[in-house]
Amino acid sequence: MNIQALLSDKVSQALIAAGAPADCEPQVRQSAKVQFGDYQANGVMSVAKSLGKPPRQVAELVIANLDLTGIASKVEIAGPGFINIFLDPAFLAKNVDEAVASDRVGVTVSEPKTVVVDYSAPNVAKEMHVGHVRSTIIGDAAVRTLEFLGHKVIRANHVGDWGTQFGMLIAYLEKQQQENAGEMALADLEEFYRAAKKHYDEDAEFAERARAYVVKLQGGDEYCRTMWRKLVDVTMTQNQITYQRLNVTLTRDDVMGESLYNPMLPGIVADLKAQGLAVESEGATVVFLDEYKNKEGEPMGVIIQKKDGGYLYTTTDIACAKYRFETLHADRVMYFIDSRQHQHLMQAWTIVRKAGYVPDSVPLEHHMFGMMLGKDGKPFKTRSGGTVKLTDLLDEALERARRLVSEKNPDMPADELEALANAVGIGAVKYADLSKNRTTDYIFDWDNMLAFEGNTAPYMQYAYTRVLSVFRKADIDETELLKAPVVITEDREAQLAARLLQFEETLNVVARDGTPHMMCTYLYDVAGLFSGFYEHCPILTADSEEARNSRLKLALLTAKTLKLGLDTLGIETVERM
Ligand code: ARG
Repeated sequence: MNIQALLSDKVSQALIAAGAPADCEPQVRQSAKVQFGDYQANGVMSVAKSLGKPPRQVAELVIANLDLTGIASKVEIAGPGFINIFLDPAFLAKNVDEAVASDRVGVTVSEPKTVVVDYSAPNVAKEMHVGHVRSTIIGDAAVRTLEFLGHKVIRANHVGDWGTQFGMLIAYLEKQQQENAGEMALADLEEFYRAAKKHYDEDAEFAERARAYVVKLQGGDEYCRTMWRKLVDVTMTQNQITYQRLNVTLTRDDVMGESLYNPMLPGIVADLKAQGLAVESEGATVVFLDEYKNKEGEPMGVIIQKKDGGYLYTTTDIACAKYRFETLHADRVMYFIDSRQHQHLMQAWTIVRKAGYVPDSVPLEHHMFGMMLGKDGKPFKTRSGGTVKLTDLLDEALERARRLVSEKNPDMPADELEALANAVGIGAVKYADLSKNRTTDYIFDWDNMLAFEGNTAPYMQYAYTRVLSVFRKADIDETELLKAPVVITEDREAQLAARLLQFEETLNVVARDGTPHMMCTYLYDVAGLFSGFYEHCPILTADSEEARNSRLKLALLTAKTLKLGLDTLGIETVERM
């Protein structure tokens, strides 16, 4: 059920009947305040302007032509020509009845599109750190939302598995294998990388060998390939454990690392030259872009092949976009990458468009995000100033959650307590990130994210269990309940019902903008409206059987919506806490 779409359609027809052009924008929005009704149509103003008529006069004409029988109980003009729409309680009741009886709470399936989502993208022989967290968590929520709406999603984990650093990594892995069991050293990837770098910087002979290995690896040498594959495997095995802990849907099959595009690179450089887009400059191959100026005001040169023949991160992203369109048949590509890479992406895509590798009809979207900051407002670091490892962060989350939930549930069996701590701890870390507008930096604060008040995972999870407890107390048969009709008499019932029926609109916003925080806000709102409803409209002690059943159904739809909504965010729910 998409009320906004339904009303947009009706208001459009009325605008056209009032003289507006066929492509007029009804601008139907959810109202910000109850006194403005449930929806507002703001399209009259611009139509009136183009018709050269007073807005209120046009608004009156629109209302005269607006047929909302069975949908709205009241329609009024406000301010200079806004139209406020108050939904009919019977309309709400009928739609709640339909939604609650469906597994998808009445959410319609969108016209399916193939959407490639680029997210997570850790680097080989480096542990995933908090910098990759945001991409992984937010990207996965977008993926789940798109899939729930019926789209075909291709998860693309653009792992950093290529580059000159592999010479040094292979040389160091070899050294480790000769001296002891190499597996041991690789268990701590961060340490492994640091040690390899140290050798490279301090041991000339080692550095020489490393450089030779880079060349051999690029040339397809069997030994070097095997060693390289080992590095990739170990890294991704560790990352997979993290994905599982995080309840993230990525699998090994979703890895489409940088190396995948290597075979395309020579052809791309040759083609860009042939198209006259790339030129030789001081031995390198460069694309000059008028769209980007350097400090001297000259077109910025983007290197796509170095003097020594090596390719760059940008060259790979050009090939990657081409591949996603040509081979994966993407209708749309969403990249969840931190904002510092914005210029890089824009340059790569400007070249992609100029070369005609991806048509304008296929959007390439950078859904960027800011940094994760500590409580002091500085980049999030360990006490000693190092980068925080994701595994350590999750361990701490679990530890804190364990303390929190065992205090609240002294009698809960140990295994249930552990599952609860996991849901709350991991959920808290994820939700804290998801609930903030992703474009800004955000402050990582344990106390805030684990609070039982406010827009947090524990609050949402608790709100869900509270709704469920109503059913436990009512002790009713769900199939029987579904036969009873919803009857809306109270304002609080109407407000809760209207908000519940906006689930689909919220999903569509998240899918369109890649903004899971909109879902968090929505669910938080639903939980708040439910609290008010629960307080003011007695459920189990309602005056009549009819009212009791109707309210139980509203509670049931609340539970289902909270659960499905949290599912799209990748946040686990529990039955009690
Ligand atoms: N591996 C990169 C990093 O850690 C992120 C890759 C993002 N995806 C892309 N298509 N460039 O910074």
